[in-house]
Amino acid sequence: MLEEFEKFLQTHILKVQSFHPFYNEAYEKMLNAGGKRFRPLLLLNVVKAYSPLLLNASMNAALALEMVHTYSLIHDDLPCMDNAAFRRQTPTLHVTYDEATAVLIGDALNTDAFLVLMHSPIDAKTKVRLCEILSFNAGSGGMVLGQAIDCHFENQPLDETKLEFLHTHKTARLIAAALQMGSAIAGLSNELEERLYAFGLELGLLFQIQDDIIDAVKSKEEAGKPTKNDTNKNSFVNLLGLTGAINRRNAKVKELKAKAETFEALGSYFQKILDTNFK
Ligand code: IPE
Ligand code: IPE
Ligand code: MG
Ligand code: MG
Ligand code: MG
Repeated sequence: MLEEFEKFLQTHILKVQSFHPFYNEAYEKMLNAGGKRFRPLLLLNVVKAYSPLLLNASMNAALALEMVHTYSLIHDDLPCMDNAAFRRQTPTLHVTYDEATAVLIGDALNTDAFLVLMHSPIDAKTKVRLCEILSFNAGSGGMVLGQAIDCHFENQPLDETKLEFLHTHKTARLIAAALQMGSAIAGLSNELEERLYAFGLELGLLFQIQDDIIDAVKSKEEAGKPTKNDTNKNSFVNLLGLTGAINRRNAKVKELKAKAETFEALGSYFQKILDTNFK
């Protein structure tokens, strides 16, 4: 599935005609640099489990989601946010080119994601739903709000409820959106879609706990991005300590492995991602 998604991505990156010397190159640099493709694979696996004939038609939505995620990383790395010079094993856009380019390529990916989504070979009603799910979870009340709180409260330790609010918005909303978008394409019942969305929020929180552990324990080479970079942040490691964060992660994995079984067709996929991503 990863291979199919990569192939689709390679052949569907938008290119524009202009006399700008490196616009297209900058546009595709971070998309091409790879990454785990965690979110598009979640979406595609929901479709594969419940409505496999729609798998090809879901590629646009999976790419749109990855484009929104990639824009969020490009902006997250800017000097005014996390000031990171390296991402996906390659120098960040503001380092390779300049800050204006990084801001604008992020803007372009964010907008173009919805164009790619609208070009999905699926019925109009479903496309409207997908557009609503993606924009609701990524926008002002979703991922962006999490990023705003993350940046505003640097060096101001939050209590645990607020910490969870931050990370649920910053990271878990887009991961839950991946499962919900897959559900919408597969035409699942409202009940199942809601259960998958709730599972996605928990999975997303676990994903951020792991990301905060990676910052504390991995090298730049292993992580593909600068580490030991969260000292001023409301990270799970800073709030709970490294051992506390690891214990929280392990407990969450156990809890989610039990819940994964309730999704029958998706159970074994969820077990696999819980076994491989959180060690
Ligand atoms: C990093 O996301 C940012 C977070 C939300 C934790 P990923 O860990 O999914 O980054 P890539 O896509 O693999 O590069
Ligand atoms: C960023 O979180 C999450 C986004 C919404 C982009 P981090 O700042 O922890 O992500 P990394 O560690 O730089 O990948
Ligand atoms: Mg950040
Ligand atoms: Mg960052
Ligand atoms: Mg991080």
